[in-house]
Amino acid sequence: MEVVKEITKMKKISKIWKKEGYKISFVPTMGFLHEAHLSLIRKAKELGDKTVVSIFVNPLQFGPKEDFKEYPRDLERDLALLEKEEVDVVFVPKTEEMYPSDFQTYVEVTKLTTGLCGAFRPGHFKGVTTVVLKLFNIINPDIAIFGEKDYQQLQVVRQMVKDLNLDIEIIAHPTVREKDGLAMSSRNIYLSSEERESASTLYKALLLAQELIKDGERNSQNLKKKLEDFIHSFPFTKVQYIEFVDPLTLEPVEKIEKPVVCALAVFVGKARLIDNMLINPE
Ligand code: PAJ
Repeated sequence: MEVVKEITKMKKISKIWKKEGYKISFVPTMGFLHEAHLSLIRKAKELGDKTVVSIFVNPLQFGPKEDFKEYPRDLERDLALLEKEEVDVVFVPKTEEMYPSDFQTYVEVTKLTTGLCGAFRPGHFKGVTTVVLKLFNIINPDIAIFGEKDYQQLQVVRQMVKDLNLDIEIIAHPTVREKDGLAMSSRNIYLSSEERESASTLYKALLLAQELIKDGERNSQNLKKKLEDFIHSFPFTKVQYIEFVDPLTLEPVEKIEKPVVCALAVFVGKARLIDNMLINPE
């Protein structure tokens, strides 16, 4: 496994691989790796000949009041985990090289980013698409794997790839969960042991939505109210949003007659957690 820190070196390696006809698969991450990241990486290894994992806590996708500084980092541990997975290259770019002082070009997917997390995190998805496009240009992958846990991010990246005619296949990986249903996340480290008990309420609320819809509830306002009350019955929780949206356009759905994605963001203590589930009313 090679750890590459310079952009030119990464480009050189990928150029050689391309020339030799290898299929490059890529998993972008912000590090502090957990089992879900590793599961995306295993899929990448299965689908490609050469696997690149990037570790970069991208300052551009954090708001001024968000947790960029506190975001957990442990490069040594991450590299040990990636070594075990037999990744070919770990790309760990420096912030100064990714964003030199004269940096001024951004990529923005407009409509898909207005709702859900986009409504509460202005500039977040612009930061995500800008860094993802830069990483795509540096690594030149054939395939890139993204997790369904960040459902809006996945759809936004897909839209960018389509709109900008990138020759990259985006593969979605299902959400990987802890035993009690909590979606794995680097941010779960922020949870105290009491908060940790409340954190599984996101998944339980999604299961409740599924059950209510299966039992015939079609009105998303009623569902939202029931889910919010359910979540708030657990200590330390504060719902930011609960939405039922079209799986492709991410537009809100009032009356549920087709498959919908139920997406939610909840503060548990100071940790902002998100989760989602595709629910089919039939
Ligand atoms: P990060 O939060 O590190 O996640 C990296 C990848 O792992 C993303 O595609 C994310 O959806 C996926 N992932 C995280 N937790 C998951 C889970 N429990 N189940 C399935 N997939 C999961 O997402 C980012 O980093 C950044 O925004 C990035 C795309 C790297 C751009 O900076």
